[in-house]
Amino acid sequence: MNDLLPEVIDAWQCLEAVLRQVTAAYGYREIRTPVLERTALFQRSIGTDTDIVSKEMYTFLDLNGESLTLRPEATASCVRAGLEHGLFHNQQQRFWYVGPMFRHEKPQKGRYRQFHQFGIEAFGWPGPDIDAEIIAVGERLWRTLGLGPVVLEINSLGSGESRRRFRDDLVAYLTAHESALDADSRGRLQTNPLRVLDSKHPETQSVVAAAPSLIDYLDSDCRRHFDGFCARLDDLKVNYRINPRLVRGLDYYSRTVFEWVTDRLGAQNAICAGGRYDGLVETLGGKSVPAAGFAVGVERVLELLALSKPLAPGIVPDLFIAAFGEGANQTAFVLAERLRTAGMTVISQCGGGGAKRQLRQADRSGARYALVLGDDELARGEIAVKPLRSDAPQFLVSLSKIEHELELLLRSEPAQPAMAAHERG
Ligand code: HAM
Repeated sequence: MNDLLPEVIDAWQCLEAVLRQVTAAYGYREIRTPVLERTALFQRSIGTDTDIVSKEMYTFLDLNGESLTLRPEATASCVRAGLEHGLFHNQQQRFWYVGPMFRHEKPQKGRYRQFHQFGIEAFGWPGPDIDAEIIAVGERLWRTLGLGPVVLEINSLGSGESRRRFRDDLVAYLTAHESALDADSRGRLQTNPLRVLDSKHPETQSVVAAAPSLIDYLDSDCRRHFDGFCARLDDLKVNYRINPRLVRGLDYYSRTVFEWVTDRLGAQNAICAGGRYDGLVETLGGKSVPAAGFAVGVERVLELLALSKPLAPGIVPDLFIAAFGEGANQTAFVLAERLRTAGMTVISQCGGGGAKRQLRQADRSGARYALVLGDDELARGEIAVKPLRSDAPQFLVSLSKIEHELELLLRSEPAQPAMAAHERG
């Protein structure tokens, strides 16, 4: 679990601003659900045989003896909230969310125990258009962020009878090759055989290479849905790769599944994953409502962004006020408030110190100008304005006209992103 220190928060806020902008362009509305849910919600939705539910949840009994869990993902919570508030009654819904999720996984690069997901969920559309729309949202997000190359992999898990037939044939095939499987996969063969397809183990992979392929089992409705989805992606000129081995680590999916992957982050290569989950609303007690969505690993996207360009610049303060002497200090403190009221961002030195120290602080603050006030200037009703980002000489401005003069000055040149203190050395 990571602390997010002020020096990284600017990048997070930039990303969040892009999320708001992109989701608004498609009519998705934000939803915020609690980080704690009843444990049964995740058992019923994600599935008791999945790694997430069987090994990775932070679960505890509350004071009433009720089993609660820190959410490992938010799709189930969106369904619960939609059902609880009657949002699925003859209505279609587009939701988005961002927030912390919790999984007790083995910590490694790109895999954390508290991490953040941005996700979207669309309820009430049975056809493949919405599957393609959520892909378009992802693609626009990467483009707006300037993320660099990521690859979209898609597959269809089918549904109902065809899925059962596939599962039976897969189990028969894997059982015949059981001795060549790694220990994990042998375990999964009993509990969650589709997940064997996902194994990274080289010997298991060579068994899996000749295993039956999900996509050959699709019934005609699922096939039509998948073809429609691909056709829409072609219309949008979105590149994709059909990966017949792509399965998901959560049990609620049917038909479309997908992942956006990169080869630049090491083993944890998925930055976004999702798909269709037409059965989940019913599983959780509602009438059948078709649904599809995805979730993005925010930390992974930020790591990827940091590889291709410097992280977003932070807020650039307009002014730093340095003051020397009792009277000057008092005036500077009130003056800072006046300037903020006039719309400027102002860092106060708060507490004095020598000239050299205050000017060093002014430089570190990233501000564009330092205002320097000593008791002498104060007696003359003036203040010195010192440009911090150029070699231009400092000049004096009358205290009575300071707001006006500074507004003109700040408007005359646009703010340049300030470098972080550690970059300036
Ligand atoms: P997921 O594949 O479990 O799907 O997670 C989605 C993304 O969250 C992953 O691709 C990854 O980028 C990020 N992620 C997962 N675990 C970690 C971790 N421990 N540390 C850092 N990042 C992580 C879901 O959660 C589904 N709810 C997605 C979905 C939404 N499907 C339909 N709607």
